[in-house]
Amino acid sequence: MQRLFFTSDPAAALSEVLAEMAPEGRIFILADSNTATLCLPVIEAGLKSCEPEIIVVSEGDANKDLDSLAAVWSSLSGRGATRRSLLINLGGGMVTDLGGFAAATFKRGIRCINIPTTLLGAVDAAVGGKTGINFDGLKNEIGVFAPAETVIVSSEFYSTLPPEELLSGYGEVLKHALIDSPEALAAALTVDPAGALPSELAPVLEKSVRIKQEIVAADPFEQGFRRALNLGHTAAHAFESLAMSRGKRVAHGVAVAHGIIVDMVLSKLLKDFPSETLHCVSTFVREHYPAPEFDCSDYETLISFMRHDKKNTSSDHINFTLLRRPGAVEIDCIVDTKTITAALDLMRDLLGV
Ligand code: GLY
Repeated sequence: MQRLFFTSDPAAALSEVLAEMAPEGRIFILADSNTATLCLPVIEAGLKSCEPEIIVVSEGDANKDLDSLAAVWSSLSGRGATRRSLLINLGGGMVTDLGGFAAATFKRGIRCINIPTTLLGAVDAAVGGKTGINFDGLKNEIGVFAPAETVIVSSEFYSTLPPEELLSGYGEVLKHALIDSPEALAAALTVDPAGALPSELAPVLEKSVRIKQEIVAADPFEQGFRRALNLGHTAAHAFESLAMSRGKRVAHGVAVAHGIIVDMVLSKLLKDFPSETLHCVSTFVREHYPAPEFDCSDYETLISFMRHDKKNTSSDHINFTLLRRPGAVEIDCIVDTKTITAALDLMRDLLGV
């Protein structure tokens, strides 16, 4: 199982992890143009004895592509990496996905550590072993399951993130809590995502990452139960696609927070999900998150995006992950368009749109 390290001092944690791993080859760090300046200095003290080689790629998901991957491979090759080298991925999901894939494929695989520097990266991309790149206009089209050996999670990185980034990460925190239990959900609903101190965020963050790790351990290659992690995502991907079609962007986890409300309404309609929980979570999302930007005239387009979601096995079937209650998940639920339309209406009412 992936080793998780929760800390308020990522440099000290890294130093300890490196001492334990005792890599025999040269150490490389992959950062993006932001994390190279903002986050590398935070972990530098943990690298004192090893003089790492730094590889920097341009930031942003648009650069999670074949060119960046080739640049990482070339840097590893050109700067003397061997099969015994270690790659430390320092960044958000773009860096851990790209670096994880580069590490898994360079000389058929070298060791790797993830140090997520965004909340979204910590609760989602850095844990669970999904690595890869975008290709031919399709997100995460090429990749492998290859878990980083160790993930160092520190809420210290997140206190300087803009509110939208914190809200985005927290969308996945809400998702994990709903999948896990009423207790995890109650704890998650006590934190102000964009205003919490690192010390307030840390326990909820740790619980969230551990929930994901447990789900992944039960189904590492997404043959079944790991699909629980798709909660909120059918609608979320449609909201992201709608925004993109208008030249706008909605942060992934913000779309997930909105998507979760759609899935809870569907769960209420189809699985008798408790009304009280639906109202508590909707109130939290309404109070902390920006309102979703669509109206009734967008339903057809949204449903068409949902039809083309890659989770569907046929374009006639729109697939959702639903809940009987927090902690009781049902994967692969096929929902008809009339019910989805009703859920979009009710979701907008609940969020006061
Ligand atoms: N992002 C969901 C998963 O790792 O399966």
